[in-house]
Amino acid sequence: MGVVTAEIQGAVGYEVYLRSFADATGDGVGDLHGLRERLGHLAWLGVDIVWITPCHPSPLADHGYDVADYLDVSGEYGGIEALDRVFEAAHELGMRVLLDLVPNHTSNRHPWFEASRADRDSPYRDYYIWRDPAPGGGPPNNWVSHFGGPAWTYDEHSGQYYCHLFLPEQPDLNWANEAVSAEFEAIIEFWLGRGADGFRIDVAHALAKHPELPDLPPAAVRGEADPDDLMTVFDRLEHVYDSNRPEVLEIYRRWREVADAHNGLILGEVYLLESDALAPYVAARDGLHLTFWFAPLHLRADDADGLRRALAEGCSMAPGSVAWITSSHDSSRAATRFGGGPLGRARALAVAALQFGLPGVAFLYQGEELGLEDVEVPPDRAQDPTATRAGAPHRSRDVARTPMPWEPGGGLGFTSSERPWLPLGDRDSADTVAVQRDDPDALLHRYRELTGVRHTHLMDSEVPVEWLTNEGPVIAYRRAKLVVAANIGAEALSWQPPGSARPLWRSSPRPPAPEGTLAPGEAVWLELHN
Ligand code: GLC
Repeated sequence: MGVVTAEIQGAVGYEVYLRSFADATGDGVGDLHGLRERLGHLAWLGVDIVWITPCHPSPLADHGYDVADYLDVSGEYGGIEALDRVFEAAHELGMRVLLDLVPNHTSNRHPWFEASRADRDSPYRDYYIWRDPAPGGGPPNNWVSHFGGPAWTYDEHSGQYYCHLFLPEQPDLNWANEAVSAEFEAIIEFWLGRGADGFRIDVAHALAKHPELPDLPPAAVRGEADPDDLMTVFDRLEHVYDSNRPEVLEIYRRWREVADAHNGLILGEVYLLESDALAPYVAARDGLHLTFWFAPLHLRADDADGLRRALAEGCSMAPGSVAWITSSHDSSRAATRFGGGPLGRARALAVAALQFGLPGVAFLYQGEELGLEDVEVPPDRAQDPTATRAGAPHRSRDVARTPMPWEPGGGLGFTSSERPWLPLGDRDSADTVAVQRDDPDALLHRYRELTGVRHTHLMDSEVPVEWLTNEGPVIAYRRAKLVVAANIGAEALSWQPPGSARPLWRSSPRPPAPEGTLAPGEAVWLELHN
């Protein structure tokens, strides 16, 4: 399975949404100095791998997922030396740092794109996907952008369209061009040489496109597209030519060689919701070390059967190759999705408890350890292009991106600025790290204990997962002597482990549920005696 994959088995990952983690400079935006000062929280929590969202110079059309220079760090975040300090400090604390690599597209302000657009004969022209208008005029095919509208923008100057699966400010790179591959291999070498421990790879399923860019067939789906929600148009097409092309695997084979030479880790944001489609990305263990598995992120609050299926499907892929998550900067927070309030928070912890017993790497998203729920962001403070550009304010990702509450008081310990880039919301002192640390009953301690039991009960990734329930709100499994069980339902339910066992961890320490019962949203870890 390779050195890195073996070393990170059982690890705990943590996503830092940099703009909202910790602001050391008082400008209302999180930065790398702030992150460095707060790394102690992550080490205390039991984090092994820190993934930092993009920190490169960027016009911020998509908050850093539009990179203008892959080899530098934005001054707003403290510049490249500040990142060096983060690497050093994290390493001293025994943590690895993953940068967010955005290879599907650049910013339209990247010098490659500026050169590509300025001159059809430039060697950079072919770094991007340019096509003539369709014979009758208009875009070359029916592809659409994730953020609504056509995936093509016409460039008056050169008389052609360029392709962008996201915003027009995020032109897609042409991965059929060897020069593009060479650039990224150099970028990967550069950062691994400078102290990064690997990469989370953005939009990892979509780099390669069908060479002829055919029209996409309609999807066999889910109702009419909503004209008021341009993003639904994307879901009405079968993404067979703009996504999940077999050629993409070759890209990761090459990166794997570069990464392995530096003991670096490559983790893909492979956004494919069927395990059959996702499995090849990690099956041969010669490409991505790990892939995120997003199915558990798209379930109704009480869909225990769906969750059981999603977890089992995740386990069906190459053992140890899955990065589990329940929240990220791209979706509503788990506590909210699972119903909000005490039950939503309990369920979010329960789902984490189920994932933490499985092989691979289990990720937390900043603030998840506090049980944070979404913040309602008023329209005049909206930042996410999903809300401001795609006509889908109800899908805005801002709700999960608001500042981290560190301690009670004005800027919640996040900032000294009067006006953080996104509002703090109505967090109260009980939501903060400082107050939860002082309260042994707080969720923060349950999450910390969970990372602890994950580490102390580490097992070989080949140890199989045996499901102990097939239906209903209790999800339970066994791996060797470890038993993990969670009640996702809203009622207390009786449940017995498959033998006598000692408790290792419990999500709700008091009042304890009666013996043989799981309270709503409760989870337990047990060790069988034989
Ligand atoms: C990924 C990122 C998301 C971004 C998109 C385009 O899905 O997680 O935040 O908008 O890629 O780069």
